[in-house]
Amino acid sequence: MSRPELTGLPSDFYNAKESSSYAKSSRMQHIQDEITSRAIELLQLPDDHPSYILDIGCGTGMSGAVLEREGHFWLGVDVSRGMLDEVDAGDESDDETSTQSNKKPKGGGGDLLEHDMGTGLPFQPQTFDSAISISALQWLCYSNSADQNPKQRLLRFFSSLYLVLKRTGRAVLQFYPETGEQAVLISECASRVGFAGGVVVDYPNSTKAKKHYLVLGFDRGQTTAKVPAALGTEQTTKTGAGGRKTGISVVGGNNEKKSFSKKKQGSGKNKTKVSERASLEEDEHTSHY
Ligand SMILES: C[S@@+](CC[C@H](N)C(=O)[O-])C[C@H]1O[C@@H](n2cnc3c(N)ncnc32)[C@H](O)[C@@H]1O
Repeated sequence: MSRPELTGLPSDFYNAKESSSYAKSSRMQHIQDEITSRAIELLQLPDDHPSYILDIGCGTGMSGAVLEREGHFWLGVDVSRGMLDEVDAGDESDDETSTQSNKKPKGGGGDLLEHDMGTGLPFQPQTFDSAISISALQWLCYSNSADQNPKQRLLRFFSSLYLVLKRTGRAVLQFYPETGEQAVLISECASRVGFAGGVVVDYPNSTKAKKHYLVLGFDRGQTTAKVPAALGTEQTTKTGAGGRKTGISVVGGNNEKKSFSKKKQGSGKNKTKVSERASLEEDEHTSHY
């Protein structure tokens, strides 16, 4: 399967037919469940009260269902009407007449908004305790028209995310970069708007299980140090950016050269480093979604 992002707009790819088959797929449910559970772990939420969480690219509510299971409240944003319709349909079919095969995940307990995250998140400042995004962020790295600039869209998205989160909160965004350059671009844009944090790469040596989690917070002195260790690696938590206390670092990964430097991609020296990283990412799989 080629990458869905190469086919055009997400709202066209996730049309009614695709959304319906996505919602019924037990394989998708399993994958989204697993990734969302890991994202919640990385959020390091307080365990004495529920949190109010923004789910960006909430799709059919599979990630929302995990948030609910963990006792949290959520609001989902997605650009696909077809996917959002399945959240409602899932709720309706989840009654006593539903058989195991047509039963869709719950997850309909969250409020929903049809919206393109690349135009910014339309909420009041500090509305949410934390945010997650599962398998959606990489869509912003692609342009579908002459006036769509990935970097501008990423900056608009991250600056609005910065505003709508409480200062005690975090955001964990799992994404599938096609290349190392995409991972660098995403990390640099997050850092540029003021976020601290790091990229946790779980199972860096496995083509199938490898996952990228961008873990963002506000305290540049603290968040990097608190980013948990990656799974599937002997490495303990460390900053990939040479121990700097600012910017975006890498935890895990199979080569420390993958540190996502804050330097501008335009500088000749850094350009070389970026392409070195790109070759390290070539084994990224796309068959997960
Ligand atoms: C692989 S699905 C994941 C869905 C969700 N996490 C779940 O548990 O069902 C990726 C989702 O990202 C959404 N998406 C892609 N680009 C988006 C954008 N620019 N703004 C909002 N949502 C977007 C898609 O519509 C799709 O529903």
